[in-house]
Amino acid sequence: MSAKLVNAVEMTSAPSKIQNIAWQEGEVQMSDRTQLSRAEPTTVWLTGLSGSGKSTIAFELERRIIASGHMAYVLDGDNIRHGLSQDLGFSPEDRKENIRRIAEVARLFNDAGLIVITAFISPYREDRVMARRIIGADRFIETYICTDLEVCEKRDPKGLYRKVRSGSITEFTGVSAPYETPIAPEVRIDTGNLEVSESVNKILQSLRTRFY
Ligand code: ADX
Repeated sequence: MSAKLVNAVEMTSAPSKIQNIAWQEGEVQMSDRTQLSRAEPTTVWLTGLSGSGKSTIAFELERRIIASGHMAYVLDGDNIRHGLSQDLGFSPEDRKENIRRIAEVARLFNDAGLIVITAFISPYREDRVMARRIIGADRFIETYICTDLEVCEKRDPKGLYRKVRSGSITEFTGVSAPYETPIAPEVRIDTGNLEVSESVNKILQSLRTRFY
C-alpha cells in the first residue's frame, strides 16, 4: 500500500473498530494502474445547492474525459442515496456519514487509477475538509458550483423546492438547513455566466497537468 493510502486510513474520522485487521498488500501498485489510465488519479469534488447544476456538469465532464481516452467515474448524490447511503437522511450527522462514505469510495477509485467526479451538496465545510483529508489534499479539487438559491428554486428540476415551501420536506439545504459557502475552492463555477461546456472547460483546465 502506498504511504498516502496508509495515512488516509489513519486519518479517517469514522469510529474505528479495526482491531486485529491488517491491510493486505497486492502485487500491483497504484502507479501500475495509473500508467494504463494515463492520468494522475484525482477527485473533482463538486459542491453546491440542490438544482445548482452539479450532476449536469459532472456527467458532461465524465463524458469529455472518457472521449479523450482517459478513465473517469461520477459518484452522484441522488444515485448513491439509492444504494450505498440508503440508510441515511439529511440530518447533519447523516450528511457527514454520507460524505465520509463517498470520500472513502473516491479514495479507492483513485487508487484504482480513475479520475473521480463527485456531485454532492456537501453543505458543511468541516465535512469537505474531512473529504479532502481522506482523499489526499494533492488529489482533491474542490469545485464550487455557484448558483443563486433563487435560480435553483426557479429551475426546481425535481420539484423539491415546491415541496419544501409546502412543508412536506424539512431540513432542506439553502432553505431550512445551512449551506456553508466554500472559502477558497480550487475552482469556482458561476453558472449564471457560463454554459455547461464552458464550465467543463474550466474544470478541465484545472486538470490539465493530470493527463499524459
Ligand atoms: S448531502 O447534503 O449529503 O451532500 P446529497 O448530495 O447526498 O446531500 O443529496 C442531495 C439530494 O437529495 C438533492 O439533490 C435532492 O435531490 C435530495 N434531497 C431530498 N431531501 C433533501 C434535503 N432535505 N436536503 C437536501 N437535499 C435533499
